[in-house]
Amino acid sequence: MKKANDRAPAHPGDPANLSVEERVTHLLSRMTLEEKIDQLHQSGVGDTNPNNLQLREDEFRPTYGSFILNGPPDVRLRNELQRRAVNESRLGIPAIFGADVIHGYRAIYPIPLAQACAWDPDLMRHACAMAAAMAKAEGVDWTFAPMVDHCVDPRWGRIAETFGESPYASSVFAVASVEGYQTGPERIVACLKHFAGYGASEGGRDYSVTEISAQRLEEMHLPPFAAGVAAGADTVMSAFNDLNGVPASANPGLLTNVLRERWKFDGMVVSDWNSVLQLIQQGFAADEGEATAQALTAGVDLDMADGLYRRHLPALVSSGRISTSVIDEAVRRVLRVKFRQGLFERPFAEPTTAIDGPLTSAQLNLCEEFAVRSIVLLKNTGVLPLAENVGAIALIGPLANDGAALLGSWAQQGRPEETCTLLDGLRERLTGHQLVEFTPGCDIESADRGGFASARALALRSEVTVLCLGESAAMSGENASRSTLRLPGVQEDLALEILATGRPVVLVLISGRPLEVTRLESAAAILAAWQPGTRGGTAIAELLLGRQEPSGRLAVAWPRTTGQIPVYHQMRPRARAGREGAYQDIETTPLFEFGHGLSYTRFECGPIVLSRPATNPDTDLIADVTVTNRGDRPGRETVHWFIRDPVASVSRPLKELKKFEQSLILPGETHTFRFEIRPLRDLSFPNDRGERLLEPGAFFLFAGTQRVEFILTS
Ligand code: NOJ
Repeated sequence: MKKANDRAPAHPGDPANLSVEERVTHLLSRMTLEEKIDQLHQSGVGDTNPNNLQLREDEFRPTYGSFILNGPPDVRLRNELQRRAVNESRLGIPAIFGADVIHGYRAIYPIPLAQACAWDPDLMRHACAMAAAMAKAEGVDWTFAPMVDHCVDPRWGRIAETFGESPYASSVFAVASVEGYQTGPERIVACLKHFAGYGASEGGRDYSVTEISAQRLEEMHLPPFAAGVAAGADTVMSAFNDLNGVPASANPGLLTNVLRERWKFDGMVVSDWNSVLQLIQQGFAADEGEATAQALTAGVDLDMADGLYRRHLPALVSSGRISTSVIDEAVRRVLRVKFRQGLFERPFAEPTTAIDGPLTSAQLNLCEEFAVRSIVLLKNTGVLPLAENVGAIALIGPLANDGAALLGSWAQQGRPEETCTLLDGLRERLTGHQLVEFTPGCDIESADRGGFASARALALRSEVTVLCLGESAAMSGENASRSTLRLPGVQEDLALEILATGRPVVLVLISGRPLEVTRLESAAAILAAWQPGTRGGTAIAELLLGRQEPSGRLAVAWPRTTGQIPVYHQMRPRARAGREGAYQDIETTPLFEFGHGLSYTRFECGPIVLSRPATNPDTDLIADVTVTNRGDRPGRETVHWFIRDPVASVSRPLKELKKFEQSLILPGETHTFRFEIRPLRDLSFPNDRGERLLEPGAFFLFAGTQRVEFILTS
């Protein structure tokens, strides 16, 4: 892909009309070793993230390569630091300012896991472009997104930041995000993170070790990174985790062999926060100097936060442990990204007054649309949509009026006070005899049952109860793993009390992960609203009242119990089928499968029609499936196409997602979904070196409720 600013106007002192590479070379030739080393340093500034530390003013130097803006937006501070970089350093090299713009910027969209449940890469691309424009106006040049880690363990708090369990879907969404951030008129640099394997953190504990076979790494963890690199992502972040004993931030196999040599990535690698220093804690480096040498030579260019490069590289160079050519190469990559981003031409943020004004209707509408589209109706016995003439509605639960919880983690720039809660959303829409009465019933986490009695009384005098339960924002995201998927505090007990009234209960879950709801199965309806963002409450209310049609489908399987983890659609077959060997106390399937999601309208899926019963490696096979809307409401249906290769030289998954497509289908209409199966792309699989194997034989193809078999000849 062609990079932005390949031939940009020259920086003062540069000969005119040079390419980016020529400008980098020219600038590099004028830099001292000290200036080069400073370019490889990134400091945190204005930081309120409890997992990160704060920049100390006495440590500031105008030659530093980069800063992280993690606190509340402060464009004045950002421009002041940049003024010092440009005016007070000998060569005037601008710094690059990064921030965690993860799911929107002030206008907060649903968390990435929820975004994936909308199955709409165009919507995601558009949302990333809008977030980029808002972030750029406040001085963000670079976002640490998208996160494309593969995870099948919802105990890990960061599953909220993933695009779900399918490496294929994550690849599609990686591309959409990179394009959204990097190719719009208000481009900011994207960062694929965390390279690699972080989502396999042992036991779902954060910052933990990972043990991933070469085969699985190739198949599950690397594809979204490869796709994002091919889409032109300019930066990659090395992960915290130790991968089979070698920390990802000092892993030449990953950072040099795979990323640079195999995928031809020419951008910059940034370490994760303190991940170079952490090589010592991980038992991989004896001291800071060794950690520095290991990370740099493995391929980490920019050192986030810990300052090790700055402190130790001078001595490592003079002792000959690190050669200047290694430093030059790292600086070259940092400068390349800065030139591509146009920072030499436009170093300063140009704040518009719009930043402090109210969010625009375009911004709010996008938040609302994304929230509506990402919410998944898991169960519905018919109580939803709430009938026009439904009587009084009880709204109960600690999440029903908690704006911060709806924003989720990594929403620093979001404002809880401008977030629409479910209470707001319902009250704005209902009046008269439907007037919503609200009581929280309990807190999110405390053991206090003092509110149970009034909640029960409210449920008894109402026609239907909307029970809004779940997690606080801090219970998912970084450093927010949980040992259980159960509802925190006494929320499950509250739910059992309300369900015991016998009145219909609509359970609305606000969470960064699937939660255990097996004991609440008498709920008449269950809605997984995730952490839906600034317009979350409006979106949920619109769906409950049937003013919008539910169309979200799960991007991650929903386990029955915590003990069932991991359970995911692309598991390989066990040695014995059925219940043999499975947990004897629960069903073998997840409570809700990957791809599950209900609508109010009714879709009917026709048989899969193949263009021919057999194909060969060079000939595409065309599969069509029709979906008819048999209900009386327009609805969006997503068809997921899965392949199974039942016999192969390496046992293959029971099902692998290979394509998805969504369409709005009007009542009575039929849409034909098509999958053009390209054998090398869709029927092959990687070996442990990443080479694709294509083996003849029978294959199964699944779409909707249908399945067909076809043959690949040699
Ligand atoms: C640590 C997190 O792992 C990473 O995702 C984030 O971008 C950095 N901190 C910067 O805040």
